[in-house]
Amino acid sequence: MSDILLRERDAGTVTLTLNRPDKLNALNEALVTALHDAIVELDRDASVRVVILTGAGEKAFVAGADIAAMAGMGPIAAKAFADLGHAVGERIERAHFPVIAAVNGFALGGGCELALSCDFIYASEKAKLGQPEVNLGIIPGFGGTQRLARRVGVAKARELVYTGDTIDAAEALRIGLVNAVVAPAELLTKVRDVAKKIEGKGPLAIAQAKRLVYRGEDLSLQVANELEAQAFSALFGSNDQKEGMTAFVEKRKASFTGT
Ligand code: COA
Repeated sequence: MSDILLRERDAGTVTLTLNRPDKLNALNEALVTALHDAIVELDRDASVRVVILTGAGEKAFVAGADIAAMAGMGPIAAKAFADLGHAVGERIERAHFPVIAAVNGFALGGGCELALSCDFIYASEKAKLGQPEVNLGIIPGFGGTQRLARRVGVAKARELVYTGDTIDAAEALRIGLVNAVVAPAELLTKVRDVAKKIEGKGPLAIAQAKRLVYRGEDLSLQVANELEAQAFSALFGSNDQKEGMTAFVEKRKASFTGT
C-alpha cells in the first residue's frame, strides 16, 4: 500500500485514509489509482465487511481533483482522468461491502463526488461540501452531475453545480447530502460504531441489500422488485439465514459466517 493511501484494519472494518494533507488530499492520478486498486483488492476478500473512507489532516476530506495536474490536460487526457474517476466510483458502488465516507473537512469537486459514490456520508461539523468546478471553467467529471442529482434532487443539484457554491455540514444535512453531522473529534468514533453494527449483520444479506439499492435505481420498479425477490429467496439457501432465524427462536445473538 502506497503512502498516499493509508490502510488500517480492525476486525472486518478497513479504514482507508487519503493522504496528501499538504495538498488537502487533492486527487491526482496516483491517488485515484491507489484507491481504485485498494477497493478491487478488498472486494476479493470476503472477510472485509465495511470500508471507511476519510482524509488525512485537520482540514480536508478531499479538496477536489488536483487542479495543478489538470491544468495542462487536453480533452483526451481529461477524458482518461474522468474515466479513472468514474471507475473508482463504480468500484465502490459494486463492492460487496458498504463504504462509508467520513467527511472530516472540505469535500469539494472530486471529493464531493467520491463521497457521493459511498453508501453513506457522515460529516464533521467543520465539513464544507460543493461542486465548484464552474469556477475553473469545467464541470464535475467524476459523476457529480448525476449522483448529486440522484441524492438531493435535480433542483438543488442544478443550483450547486451552476453556482459552484460551497455549503456547510448543516445545510448538507438539511438537503439530504449527508446522513449525519458529528463533532469533529467524534467523527471517526461515530463512523466506526456504525461500521461495527453493520459488521455484526449477515454479510451476504448486506451485500445483496447494497447491490439491490444500487442496481434498482436505474430499473423499473417491477424489474427491480423481481431482482429483490430472487435475492431474497437465494438467501434462504444460506447458512446465515438458518443461523439468523434459529438464533432468534433460541433467544441468542446470531453468529454469521457469510456462507
Ligand atoms: N488541487 C490541487 N491542489 C490543491 C487543491 C486542488 N483541488 N486544493 C487545495 N490545493 C493545495 C493548494 O494549492 C495549496 O498548496 P500549496 O501549499 O502548495 O500552495 C494547499 O493545497 C493548501 O490549500 P490552500 O488553498 O492554501 O488552503 P486554504 O485553506 O486557503 O483554502 C480551499 C482551502 C479548499 C478553499 C482551497 O484550497 C480551494 O479552493 N481549493 C480548490 C477547490 C476546488 O476548486 N476543487 C475542485 C477542483 S475540480
